[in-house]
Parts: sequence; C-alpha cells; structure tokens
Amino acid sequence: MKNLVIANWKCNPSSLKEAKNLFNLIKKQSKDIKKTEIIIVPPFIYLPFLKGLDLGAQDCFWEDKGAFTGEISPLMLKNLSCKYVIIGHSERRKYFNENNEIINKKIKAALRNNLIPILCIGEREEEKKKKKTKKIIREQLENGLKDIKKANLIIAYEPIWAIGTGNFCDFEIAKEIKNIIFETLSKIFNKNNLEKIKIIYGGSVNFKNASDYIKKSEFNGLLVGGASLKSQDFVKIIKSIEKLNNIKFK
Ligand code: 13P
Repeated sequence: MKNLVIANWKCNPSSLKEAKNLFNLIKKQSKDIKKTEIIIVPPFIYLPFLKGLDLGAQDCFWEDKGAFTGEISPLMLKNLSCKYVIIGHSERRKYFNENNEIINKKIKAALRNNLIPILCIGEREEEKKKKKTKKIIREQLENGLKDIKKANLIIAYEPIWAIGTGNFCDFEIAKEIKNIIFETLSKIFNKNNLEKIKIIYGGSVNFKNASDYIKKSEFNGLLVGGASLKSQDFVKIIKSIEKLNNIKFK
C-alpha cells in the first residue's frame, strides 16, 4: 500500500498563474518519487489547467446536475479527470454548516461517480478538553457513512485544534485515535473492503513531524494545508515519506 501525501490548498493561491507555478514546481521537484502517492487538491477553477499529478477537489454537491446555482457536481469533477474529493472538511462544517447528514449525501454522490472521497473527521478543542474525542469520531464516521456498505475511501483525522495552529497532535494520541477509527470502520465494512481504506492524519503537518505520523502513529498518509503552499516544504514532506518507504521495501 502506497502512502499518500495530499496537498489541500484551500482558498489559495489567488491567480491561475501562481497555481500553475506552484503545481509545476512540486511536479518537477518530486519527479523521482515512486513509492508515495502525491495528490494536489486546488480550488475548483484551477483543476482543468493542472496536469501530471493526481488531482482532487475540495468539496462537491450531492446531485449530479440540475437547478442548483453555484454548485459543482461530482459528475463534473469526474469528467475533469479528478480522482479524489475532500468531503466534510472542518472548515466546511464550521463556515457552511455542513452536518453529518449532508456529508453522507455528498459521500454517496462521490462514490456513485467513482470518485474517492477523503472524509475529514476530528474534534474541536473544547470537545477534546471534555474528553469527547472518541464519541465525536465514532458519530462522524457512523453518520457520515450511514447506509454505505462498500466504498473505496480515505479517512482523514484532522483534530480541529491542530489545523493551522502549529499545535500538532501528539504521535501516541494520534495512534490511539487511528485505532478507534479502524475499530469503528471494522463494524461498518467487511474485511476485504476494510483493507482498502486508508486512514491519514492532518493538522499542522510539516517536514519535521511528517514521517513520525507514518512511523510512530501508523497512518497511511498525510493531509497537508499550510505547508503545501510552499513547494520546497511540501516536497520535503514527500521525500521524508518516500525515504520511509525505501526502508520498508528493502
Ligand atoms: P494545516 O496543515 O495548515 O494545519 O491544515 C490542515 C488541513 O486542514 C488540511 O486539510
């Protein structure tokens, strides 16, 4: 199983020229990467112009077409050769009131169009303080994946307090959460399907802490925000993961 390194550019950069430039630098500097899967998730409007690395979208609507002003459908994304779609990112839950029910509809729509959903889950700071992390994680998985029995899927654990703060999650704690995610998924999916699901970490990942989430916490990859906007930092993260793979495959 290849480890994933995913760049979530969020609402950046502000011009196509900058987007192409960043993309091409990452592509050039990572041309020797063989055992790590690199996925770039830019704003929708840049998707048709970026070629040569796997692409994902940051969200999608739950219908394929129709009178839904302003929405981007999973069918449109599929037709743009997009492979992945982030669903339920905490910023969408917070600023656009997306709840587990909406997220469930979006996951189903993505799967119906053969896109691989990257379902984001994670607890808020006050939930962590009240020791509600396990409960939140289970609820987000059970409700977000309601009535889904078979899925090619990625789960991203992104504790909200760790996003954009520099305050990344302790590796041991992250490992415990990864195990809770796996246990919860094993109640939803059969063994065959379970083996295909990747569980990744996101939240203040940088080139210093990246490899420990694979080595110590046993995640299958990383979802990177801020550090994916600087090509050198992002490529350093990719290379630190590729190095681990080299050790593992020897
Ligand atoms: P940061 O890496 O900037 O903390 O963002 C994480 C994130 O939200 C990725 O989806």
